[in-house]
Amino acid sequence: MSKPTVMLTPALDAFIERMPKVELHLHLEGSIESQTLLDLAARNKIEIPAQNVAGVEQLLRYRDFGEFLTVYMALVRAVVTGEDFERLAYELGRHLATQRVRYAEVMVSPMQHILRDVDMLEAIAGTAAGFARAQRETGVRVNLAFDFGRQYGPERAWHVLEVAQQAMPYGVVAWSIGGNEIGNPPEPFAEVFAAARQAGLQVMAHAGEVVGPASVWGAVDVLQSARIGHGIRAIDDPRLIAHLRTRGTVLDVSPSSNLYTGAASSWTMHPLRRLYDAGVIVTINTDDPTFFHTTLSSEFRLAVKHFGFTADDLVQVTRNAVFGSFLPAAEQVALWQEIEAEIATLRAELGV
Ligand code: ADE
Ligand code: ZN
Repeated sequence: MSKPTVMLTPALDAFIERMPKVELHLHLEGSIESQTLLDLAARNKIEIPAQNVAGVEQLLRYRDFGEFLTVYMALVRAVVTGEDFERLAYELGRHLATQRVRYAEVMVSPMQHILRDVDMLEAIAGTAAGFARAQRETGVRVNLAFDFGRQYGPERAWHVLEVAQQAMPYGVVAWSIGGNEIGNPPEPFAEVFAAARQAGLQVMAHAGEVVGPASVWGAVDVLQSARIGHGIRAIDDPRLIAHLRTRGTVLDVSPSSNLYTGAASSWTMHPLRRLYDAGVIVTINTDDPTFFHTTLSSEFRLAVKHFGFTADDLVQVTRNAVFGSFLPAAEQVALWQEIEAEIATLRAELGV
């Protein structure tokens, strides 16, 4: 498989570092800093399988997606109170600002918290307060999505959808399914998704991460999701590729995530370049930055190194993120105008 060779020159590296960015696919819980995890576990007297930062880091290696999910669930138990969520959101907001992220859509996975008797509205109020504090200090702007763990089934989703509606005043703008895709196809969630749309929530779905094209077909045609988390297995079905292109479906791709969970067996096998070249609208994301040892700038660098992305390509995926976002159309246009102008100035300065 040939890919254009693009050198990560100091100028391109500086451009990546400094360019204004938008991130559409990351999880609040998956962004928790290792030290914060330890602090919260100690304060809440929750046992986690690590004593120090090195111990946490050691856990963050997985043989497959199932193992990732097990570690994720075990560690996230440390987060309990509204104050805890406030800290997570504040730290994530500040982190996003270091990546020059101007706007992000951040998922919270309610079911795992509800099952531990966490008050989800308190959690979301804390989350909103944390992001508001980060916004006051850095200007970074965040909207929220509920990401329902599909393994808990559609019946329980109805209750969580009610909570999502109550959380809309705190900046919850979207409804999604995530979690274990294997054995949990999208179709049974059709009515829940229709109700979410009816309630004024936007929708998206994780699909085609560790299950093949059928999962993406279901998410697009049955759930009517205009945005897909990952979607990388669409590469196995040329008819689906054409369908995604025609519909303008956005695939929120997270390359390091796919390598860590085994969703992609190697960088060579990862289909990001092929999806992009096929004309599918893609964005680049971190998914769970702590769990996959990454940042958005790092993902952009990896896109240069492994997929031959140029400065033009990185600008294109940023534009895709702006216009694929759940912001109202007028706000998308305003955001893009601001970002485009800054990028032009930066490119002139750096000569990239
Ligand atoms: N929740 C957090 N990370 C996820 C992923 N990569 N896929 C599905 N659900 C998730
Ligand atoms: Zn995800």
